Amino acid sequence: MSEKHRFMTLGRHIDEGEREHPEATGDFSGLLSDLAIAVKMIWREVSKAGLIEILGATDRQNDCGDEVKKLDEFANETIYRAMDHGGHLCVMASEESHGLISIPDKYPKGKYVLVYDPIDGSSNIDANVSIGSIFGIYRRITESGPGTEADCLQPGYKLAASAYVIYGSSTIFVYCTGDGVHGFTLDPSVGEFLLSHENMRIPDRGKTYSVNEGNYGKWADGMRSYVNYLKGTDGSGRRPYSSRYIGSLVADFHRNLLHGGIFMYPGDSTNPDGKLRLVYECAPLAHIVEHAGGKASDGIRRILDIVPKAVHQRTPFFIGSGEDVSEAEEFIQGRRNH
Ligand code: AHG
Ligand code: MN
Ligand code: MN
Repeated sequence: MSEKHRFMTLGRHIDEGEREHPEATGDFSGLLSDLAIAVKMIWREVSKAGLIEILGATDRQNDCGDEVKKLDEFANETIYRAMDHGGHLCVMASEESHGLISIPDKYPKGKYVLVYDPIDGSSNIDANVSIGSIFGIYRRITESGPGTEADCLQPGYKLAASAYVIYGSSTIFVYCTGDGVHGFTLDPSVGEFLLSHENMRIPDRGKTYSVNEGNYGKWADGMRSYVNYLKGTDGSGRRPYSSRYIGSLVADFHRNLLHGGIFMYPGDSTNPDGKLRLVYECAPLAHIVEHAGGKASDGIRRILDIVPKAVHQRTPFFIGSGEDVSEAEEFIQGRRNH
């Protein structure tokens, strides 16, 4: 860590980033600072989830058919209430909300759009396994007034910023505004996120792969061949990769960002588009991984080039070290079988 970056708080880092853009109005800094407050409030509940009535499930399902956990609901509500009145946003979209989330009439409309997965890895909450939150921020494309679906359905290459939080043994906020990927670790004793991972870069190739092999029987041949190749069961004699799968996308992604490797959630015979959602899971993480030197695709197309047709649209997802993702694409596209 460079000297000048000791005790660098997230807020100061955001402000310094803003100062490098003379045309900036401070609006963006305000948005990210409001988001950091929401994340700290979620951390506070996550860190004591076992002690208060916030574990377990509600009796609801969300639009994606997932069982909604109480923490999903709490986090969704917390982000909405932290972000709806600052005047930075014109509309929001969340995994846990059916349609678009409007900014109440009584509050000013801003020039940004927030899409988010309030809690990622919900099925792990009760088991005390790391979970996360994922955020994407776009500039609005409509002129004024309440934001629209068109504002939320922009391709990922138009992201102004992306961020994720991992609530684990420590809580880390990782964000990218187009000028590198930077991670901040929460110091609970002062309630500040302090710069801990400056200019994160993912290794060109890793030694681990992350996928739910329980779906092996439903995969297409190319996917099976690729995983057999990674495991060395294709007779190639190459050193096999290790399997690492937490079942929380953010946790699997964060490990691969630090150490290299590939995370996969392919389509299969029952879910041709896989399980993960393009707008508020895959595109923000693809934005981060590309700015860290990695790659993200649906097996054929670059994730950031896909124009969403619906907020809860799913996509097959391959993300991580560039050489690993390119190799996976060769197998998925049938250009290679060992
Ligand atoms: P969410 O909790 O936001 O619905 O996301 C869960 C996702 C993702 O975090 C993880 O990689 C994947 O579900 C795990 O799915 P499987 O249990 O099917 O492997
Ligand atoms: Mn998720
Ligand atoms: Mn979720």
